[in-house]
Amino acid sequence: MNSFEKINGLKGEVSVPSDKSITHRAFMFAGMSQGTSIVRIPLISRDTMSTKAAMQALGCNITEFEDGFKVVSDGYQNFKEPFGIVDCGNSGTTARLYTGLVAAAQKFVVLTGDQSLSKRPMSRVIKPLTDMGARIHSRDNDKFLPMTIIPAELQPTDIIAETKSAQVKSAVILAALQTEGTSSYTEKVQTRNHTEIMLESFGYNVQVDGLKITVPGKAELKAAEIIVPGDFSSAAFFIGMALMFENADITIKRVGLNPTRSGLLDVLEMFGVSYEKEVTSTVGEPIGNIRIISSSFKGCKIDGPIIANIIDELPMIATLGLFADEPVEIRGAEELRVKESDRIAAVAYNLKQLGAEFEEYEDGLKVYPLKELAENPELKSFDDHRIAMINIMLGKRFGSQIKIDDIECVDVSFPTFIKMMESLELS
Ligand code: S3P
Repeated sequence: MNSFEKINGLKGEVSVPSDKSITHRAFMFAGMSQGTSIVRIPLISRDTMSTKAAMQALGCNITEFEDGFKVVSDGYQNFKEPFGIVDCGNSGTTARLYTGLVAAAQKFVVLTGDQSLSKRPMSRVIKPLTDMGARIHSRDNDKFLPMTIIPAELQPTDIIAETKSAQVKSAVILAALQTEGTSSYTEKVQTRNHTEIMLESFGYNVQVDGLKITVPGKAELKAAEIIVPGDFSSAAFFIGMALMFENADITIKRVGLNPTRSGLLDVLEMFGVSYEKEVTSTVGEPIGNIRIISSSFKGCKIDGPIIANIIDELPMIATLGLFADEPVEIRGAEELRVKESDRIAAVAYNLKQLGAEFEEYEDGLKVYPLKELAENPELKSFDDHRIAMINIMLGKRFGSQIKIDDIECVDVSFPTFIKMMESLELS
């Protein structure tokens, strides 16, 4: 069990680690392009190293270079068949995007993952890719990893989304890029669009018309240099700290501000919280700095299309309900049940330990302001990096009476989380 000393405030500047979603995509597109690409300041974490290894298994030569990696490849047209089983570890993004990538590359590939990933639905990518002609089989009637992808020629197809998932959208785009003819994917709601934006850097334009993305196939991707911005989802924990701690003044530098990711800033407005935002670059992914100072905040109900743009921040937003003046209610977030853990159940478990009043729904939670902390709460991280980071914040907020079972799993996305928190001026 882990515990922390109580702090009241945090002040100063942080540069959060680079974006996880963008790093995965940078390794994949660099590997799909012919020539030498550079991925600068990538996120180096357990998840992104799974993608790097998966691309190496296809014959891409990836070596450390200056502030990142050099990726030398003969392009997707010349991928090698992986010699062994490709292990996606804990990473849903690796498993889902890579399935689309190799299904169209016509290679025999076997994918596996850790315990958590092996419980997460894969049918959401198997179904549209099978509609395109892919041959994929996986455990329990094509639901879960392990998965086998058998060489097959894909046909251009118009896919209508059945899930609100950027991973599924990206898997289809990665397959469509390699397929002769023009395919399309129509989203249910706008999900993160890093794939669409990054393709431009690799010299390729997909056509986006509202929720429909049209992808002409047999893409000639040109090797490129990608500089990865800070991860908004990691910055979100520091934004949350400003609302959780009494005496915080935090500036987050060089963070990605793509609106399909930064819905938390809209939630701050719903909370009645002001913050400063300085946009420093708008070429490709928007980047900038955020400054936020402790303040009281009102509750709100969050539902609708914004959910896709705060999907990874929702467990923390729900937990912030403990510190708001009124309840925080989240609905329409059933996707949280199939993340690294069942994040609705995980948050509910920890709220119960804390002695909080809350309601759990199939698609969300309603969390009431905390009246009195229970005695000696024991929080669980459920082997989920984002739940562990919330627990660490709560541990620092309430002090050593809070015990946390696992904090190691933060290495999936933010290995330096505690160190970065402690690098601020603590009071
Ligand atoms: C991701 C998309 C989201 C997100 C995940 C990363 C991506 O998943 O939760 O952490 O990189 O495309 P879904 O698209 O399945 O919701």
